[in-house]
Amino acid sequence: MRPTPPPRTYRVKSFGCQMNVYDGERMAELLGAQGISPAPEGEEADLVVLNTCHIREKAAEKVYSDIGRIVKDWRREDGTSPLIAVAGCVAQAEGEEIMRRAPAVSMVVGPQAYHRLPEMVAEAAEGRRTVETDMPAEAKFAALPARRKVGPSAFLTVQEGCDKFCTYCVVPYTRGAEISRPYKDLVAEAQGLVEAGAREITLLGQNVNAWRDDTNRGLEKLIETLAAMPGLARIRYTTSHPNDMTEGLIEAHRDIEKLMPFLHLPVQAGNDRVLKAMNRSHSADSYLRVLDRVRAVRPDIALSGDFIVGFPGETDAEFEDTLKLVDAVGYAQCFSFKYSARPGTPAATMDGQVAAEVMDERLQRLQAALNRDQLAFNQASVGKRCTVLVERKGRHEGQWLGKSPWLQSVHFTGEAAIGDLVEVELTAAGPNSLSARLLHPAHA
Ligand code: SAH
Ligand code: SF4
Ligand code: F3S
Repeated sequence: MRPTPPPRTYRVKSFGCQMNVYDGERMAELLGAQGISPAPEGEEADLVVLNTCHIREKAAEKVYSDIGRIVKDWRREDGTSPLIAVAGCVAQAEGEEIMRRAPAVSMVVGPQAYHRLPEMVAEAAEGRRTVETDMPAEAKFAALPARRKVGPSAFLTVQEGCDKFCTYCVVPYTRGAEISRPYKDLVAEAQGLVEAGAREITLLGQNVNAWRDDTNRGLEKLIETLAAMPGLARIRYTTSHPNDMTEGLIEAHRDIEKLMPFLHLPVQAGNDRVLKAMNRSHSADSYLRVLDRVRAVRPDIALSGDFIVGFPGETDAEFEDTLKLVDAVGYAQCFSFKYSARPGTPAATMDGQVAAEVMDERLQRLQAALNRDQLAFNQASVGKRCTVLVERKGRHEGQWLGKSPWLQSVHFTGEAAIGDLVEVELTAAGPNSLSARLLHPAHA
């Protein structure tokens, strides 16, 4: 590659899960600390970081079409294009292969190695291509700069990696083994986020409820410490595994007021044979019992989950069990996906791969049921009074958008500002959002 002047502007595009969003923010902070500025909206950047997701085939292939578009749209008069870095889980999974397939890429950097990005950018400007996909547990966090200004709702990665090895999933390979970040580092980072303007912190991990400190205290301990921080109003956590839902964490939903009444607990399927083939290590019934325990301590909790339809070998009757489970739970919101065979995972070579049309039909039926329940949940909220954390301006004059305690999108008009926690009455519900009446501004 030809040498280029060092980049002055960057753009980070994150795909996939919230942990990628967090990593994208940290990469932006790193580049900012090097004196590189965010490219203004709509303008080309000297450096583009594609922070990729490998979870399904579509997500993984997107990176190559994005690279093609950047090269085509942004070729400058002197024939050069922006420097391109591929980060995230595709970088980890494909490494050198990306360099072969995409000559325009000059940096490939995995999720555990992105603290090396500034050096890689300097090398790229000199015309060298580098691949960094080492997985040294935690080294990255120590090398990152302090948190800068953040929005009212901030992410904090507390746990990374996964040891569960569900047979369809790439995460244990792209993110490595489960590690918990140290308690004191997390408290310091949370404090930094609050000082930078966060009023809500969402604790993140591929299995966030598997977080432990070095004395084996669970996530509820961290939540309790954060709840004592003045200025921080709300705490959430995601994503949890059913088997790591301890009594202590469940009780935190009763005892800690700042812990919001929302639980994302993926189940994937409602049939025990399928769950076993997925290596989920819970049954439909043990999952439902966890939800019962949570509802017993926090009756208004909003429940959420993830589903996969068309896992290899799933029959029509087994799929019906998923619909039954959905009916039994009454979710507030969910994510649902068609099974996507991922290279290197055990399920990819299992017998009984399900035809695309069958998966389409199952997904449609599942989503119809989930949409029905989501609307019902929202409609049941009408008339309730609650707080809304104001996150941004709405489309209309004087309109504001924010989230209810149950993670519903809420819009209202009136006197408010981004970061306010206001009292509202929910007045009408749609499938994806609710409207509200401002009761009185609660500047805190
Ligand atoms: N660690 C989390 C989330 C992992 S990825 C958990 O275990 O819940 C997010 C979701 O993507 C999963 O919950 C699953 O529903 C979906 N997913 C993962 N691998 C997939 C695959 N190969 N095909 C389709 N969906 C998949
Ligand atoms: Fe993937 Fe299963 Fe781990 Fe979730 S628990 S990240 S679905 S292997
Ligand atoms: Fe995707 Fe990696 Fe997250 S594969 S879902 S970005 S952990």
